[in-house]
Amino acid sequence: MRNQQLKLKSGLPLIQQVFDAGFEVDSCCGNGFCGMCRVTLTGGAVKYKEEPLAALLPNEIVLCQAIPTTEDIVINI
Ligand code: FES
Repeated sequence: MRNQQLKLKSGLPLIQQVFDAGFEVDSCCGNGFCGMCRVTLTGGAVKYKEEPLAALLPNEIVLCQAIPTTEDIVINI
């Protein structure tokens, strides 16, 4: 596991920002249904473009729908 910091852009879904930074993340549907882009959020907060239908644990988010609402986000990819 490595730690890396990204400068987040407000209003952009996290999956786009993670891809732009060169990370590889599994994804499929792009609309919060399949859960393939599920990650654990350990710091910060997000809002969703649309509430995901994927089954998530309380500390999990789907990157394709998540938009950061705090300056710092900590996720485990
Ligand atoms: S790609 Fe399917 S939930 Fe994100």
